[in-house]
Amino acid sequence: MSNIEQTLSIIKPDAVERNLENEIKQVFKEKGFQIIKAKKIKIEKSEAESFYKVHETKPFYNDLCAYLSSGPIIVMVLEKENAVLGNRELMGATNPKDAEDGTIRKKYGISIDKNSVHGSDSIENAKIEINFFFKD
Ligand code: CMP
Repeated sequence: MSNIEQTLSIIKPDAVERNLENEIKQVFKEKGFQIIKAKKIKIEKSEAESFYKVHETKPFYNDLCAYLSSGPIIVMVLEKENAVLGNRELMGATNPKDAEDGTIRKKYGISIDKNSVHGSDSIENAKIEINFFFKD
């Protein structure tokens, strides 16, 4: 039975700054993800605070929001069978030093903050996050 899902992916400022947009998009395509929508934007810190609201009680929340709003990002809707889990597997562990070979964060991530990509962690959050950036 087919189970096509959509998930939200963000190429974070550290990767955009290093001109990795096309390379990372190519990784997604090679793994069978269709990039349904994509746009390059720069968000305000207040928007990052709203996007990462689930983390508001965490000690890293302020730095995280400052970082996501520090430079241009690419927000994308990815589509594939089981896209939410598939994207999380392809991204690898949150901390690049724990990420497995072949994952995006292992290859491109610099640190737990500058970990190059974000991906929705559940189907429910994917809907919320896609709607956050693509309201049409
Ligand atoms: P992301 O998948 O975008 O979701 C929240 C982000 O918080 C995470 O990637 C990391 O970049 C960042 N972060 C910073 N410190 C931590 C931490 N201790 N645990 C989890 N995430 C962290």
